[in-house]
Parts: sequence; C-alpha cells; structure tokens
Amino acid sequence: MQIFKDKVILITGANRGIGKSFVKALLNSEARKIYVTCRDLKKMPAFDDDRIVPLQLDITVDKQVAVTVMTAQDTEILINNAGALSPGNMLQGDLSGMENDLNVNYFGTIKMMRAFAPILIKNKPSILINIVSIAAYSPLPSIAGYAASKAALYSATQSVRIELAKTGVSVYAVNPGAIDTDMNKESDWDMPDPDSTAVKILACVALGKSDIVPDEMGQEMYAAWREEPAKLAKIFSDLYHGEN
Ligand SMILES: NC(=O)c1ccc[n+]([C@@H]2O[C@H](COP(=O)([O-])OP(=O)(O)OC[C@H]3O[C@@H](n4cnc5c(N)ncnc54)[C@H](OP(=O)(O)O)[C@@H]3O)[C@@H](O)[C@H]2O)c1
Repeated sequence: MQIFKDKVILITGANRGIGKSFVKALLNSEARKIYVTCRDLKKMPAFDDDRIVPLQLDITVDKQVAVTVMTAQDTEILINNAGALSPGNMLQGDLSGMENDLNVNYFGTIKMMRAFAPILIKNKPSILINIVSIAAYSPLPSIAGYAASKAALYSATQSVRIELAKTGVSVYAVNPGAIDTDMNKESDWDMPDPDSTAVKILACVALGKSDIVPDEMGQEMYAAWREEPAKLAKIFSDLYHGEN
C-alpha cells in the first residue's frame, strides 16, 4: 500500500489486538517509522524492527499525551485505536465501567486529536484514523455504555473531519462489527482475525474511503442501518433478547 510507504505513523493501544495488527501491516507497507504506544511498555511485543519506536501512553493521562506529542513531532498518520469495553446494560450496568469507556473511547481520543491536530496540519498531507465501532450507529444494550461512548466518538470524528477539511488532514472513521480480539474473548461468534482486519482497513484508507466497515458482519449491520435505522435496532434487540 503505497500511501503508507516512508510515512511516520503513531498507533495507540499497539500492544495487542487490532493495534498490534496495524503495526505488523504497516511494517509490511514500508512505513518509515512507527511510534508504537501503550500503557505498559512491558506488555509491548518485540517487533524486532529498527523502525519501531515504543512510547508509554495512556490516552487519558494529559501529561503522557503531552510528552508523546513533544516526542512524535514528525507524525504524519495518527491511528487512534486504543479502546475499552465494559459490559452491562444502561439501567443496571456498572456506572464506573461506563465512565471508563467514555473516558478512554471518547475523551481520551479527543485529547489525542486536540494534541496532534497541529502536528498533522504541519506535516500535511496527513491522515487521522479513529477506530470507532458499528455500535456507534445503534446500541447493543448488553454493551450500552461502550455503544454510547462510540456514538459520541463517531460524532466527534465527523466534527473533526469537517474542522480539518481545508487543512490537508484527511479523517477516517472505522466502524467494525465483531473482530476476534481480547475484547470479544467471551464471545463464540465466528469472527475475522485482527491481522486481516487491519490490512482491510488500511486498504480502504488507501482508497480514500472515509467511513470504513471492514468486516462482513459489520457490513451486514451497516447495510441494515442504511436501509432503515430500525432494522439494525431490531438485529440488536434480537441479539439482546436471545431471539436468534
Ligand atoms: N474487537 C472488536 O470486535 C471491535 C469492534 C469494533 C471496534 N473495536 C475497537 O477497536 C479498537 C481496538 O480494540 P481491540 O479489539 O484490539 O481490543 P483489545 O484487544 O482489548 O485492545 C484494546 C487496546 O486498547 C488499549 N487501551 C485501553 N485503555 C487504554 C488507555 N486508557 N490508554 C491507552 N491504551 C488503552 C489496551 O491496552 P492494555 O493492554 O494496556 O489494556 C489495548 O492495547 C478499540 O477502539 C475497540 O473499541 C473493536
């Protein structure tokens, strides 16, 4: 994928799941440098490549975001991948879990966008990719707090896309269905693996598709929502009430 060749990229939550898969795919795409960030550097895989620069970053901690920005001034592509999911419905779910999802997925990602927007503008043409979720379109009540945080993030992503439209920064929203990572370790669904998902997402970015649904399950849900939002709500209602 030519557009990633010789680029400097920063990825949040790069130690596992889709984030780690982005790193592998971008190394194969001849990126020049990749800042791989995660909360605990002891958990970072050894990518065994000189182009890798590991940095400690919890996206909810202002000081760490500020240090990361100072270090990664040459970033041309920012992938806001880090995310958290606390299960639970809206009426009985654990409120502290909901707060954490909102703090990481929404406010943490906003902090990253605010901190890196000047750098991306300076290094234009540049790319901002936010990993959102199909749950941004319609909530699955068993993960209601997560869905609300991703709906908020999707809205923020669309705002920032418009805000940055004339600056040379292209903004991408990625809304996957279910991918086979730790986030879904309780699920027995048949899910695509994160490596192939990361490659598909990057291929869509290379094609300039600004709203990306990389997997088949997500695409079916997105098609239902586009036809009639109530159709996706019905799919999620059936899932929630165990009717399928
Ligand atoms: N898997 C899916 O089905 C699916 C579907 C739609 C969207 N997504 C989104 O895709 C992204 C990647 O998820 P995944 O499936 O790869 O999940 P995952 O395997 O659970 O990985 C989550 C990543 O986010 C990091 N993280 C959590 N809180 C953080 C914080 N405060 N600061 C920095 N990093 C933090 C985790 O770090 P630690 O190792 O330190 O916890 C981990 O690296 C998330 O935004 C998720 O919401 C996933």
